[in-house]
Amino acid sequence: MKKILVTGANGMLGQDLCPALTENGYEVIKTDIADMDITKYEVVKCVLTDKKPDIVIHCAAYTNVDKAEEDIELARLINKSGTENIAKVCADIDAELVYISTDYVFSGDGNKPYLPTDKTNPLNNYGLTKWEGEEAVRKYCPKHYIARTSWLYGIHGKNFVETMIALADKPELKVVDDQTGCPTWTMELVRGILKLIKDQNYGTFHVCGSGYTSWYGFAKKIFELAGLNVNLKPCTTDEFPRPAKRPKYSVMENYGITRHWEEALKDYMKLRK
Ligand SMILES: NC(=O)c1ccc[n+]([C@@H]2O[C@H](COP(=O)([O-])OP(=O)(O)OC[C@H]3O[C@@H](n4cnc5c(N)ncnc54)[C@H](OP(=O)(O)O)[C@@H]3O)[C@@H](O)[C@H]2O)c1
Repeated sequence: MKKILVTGANGMLGQDLCPALTENGYEVIKTDIADMDITKYEVVKCVLTDKKPDIVIHCAAYTNVDKAEEDIELARLINKSGTENIAKVCADIDAELVYISTDYVFSGDGNKPYLPTDKTNPLNNYGLTKWEGEEAVRKYCPKHYIARTSWLYGIHGKNFVETMIALADKPELKVVDDQTGCPTWTMELVRGILKLIKDQNYGTFHVCGSGYTSWYGFAKKIFELAGLNVNLKPCTTDEFPRPAKRPKYSVMENYGITRHWEEALKDYMKLRK
């Protein structure tokens, strides 16, 4: 039985990933900041050499996109240095490494889906530090899978779907319509990760929902599936300023690794009831 160690196991993705790995016949070792702070090289070395996993799935990250604009040192410590620690020790113990990355590595000024090989150019500190994490993985750990995902939502975390439903009783709800991307349910990402490690084809991949929409389009579909009648209005990014810049167009080519985002959202909406 292959042994998989998961970092960030208490996070939104980690909580869906760990039981799915067990169901798929893997032995799972869950870690989070309390038992393996990834920013501490000696701790990472000690845990990984003791547990000797065959695969590490690295979900731990600094994920507050707006806060990272004022807190780049901490974001970089976790997303770059923490990932570097994991990548170095994985190489030492000959473990495969799955690194979860983001569409925010792209600038979003294109108009056709980004390929995994396309030039990256992050617009914000979160995207920059996640890209630095990617580079550390490529540099230190040859047996790697970099899985870029986007617009992630899942049952165990604060996410756009739940935020929209919580705001449904507002007299009017304005949602940004000039940012386009690929909504991704955590369980679709989990299925994609399972496929990557089964195929053992190392490299950089896009594991996001198929198809694309705007945040407004995403919200519209959420309310339709929830049977909620909401006074929803499209707005521009300029009308809703945030500390961190977001890419306008971060659609990623996923070569069909996951289902259409609307199909996945239907299943999520059934599950959350
Ligand atoms: N959410 C999205 O929309 C999105 C989109 C694209 C990519 N991603 C990527 O997908 C992955 C999973 O995201 P998620 O939404 O599941 O994130 P999450 O819910 O924020 O979970 C991240 C986990 O990492 C832990 N962590 C933070 N610092 C750590 C440290 N120094 N050592 C060990 N663990 C630490 C966090 O603990 P605390 O809660 O105690 O800090 C948390 O349990 C991340 O790599 C993220 O960058 C997410």
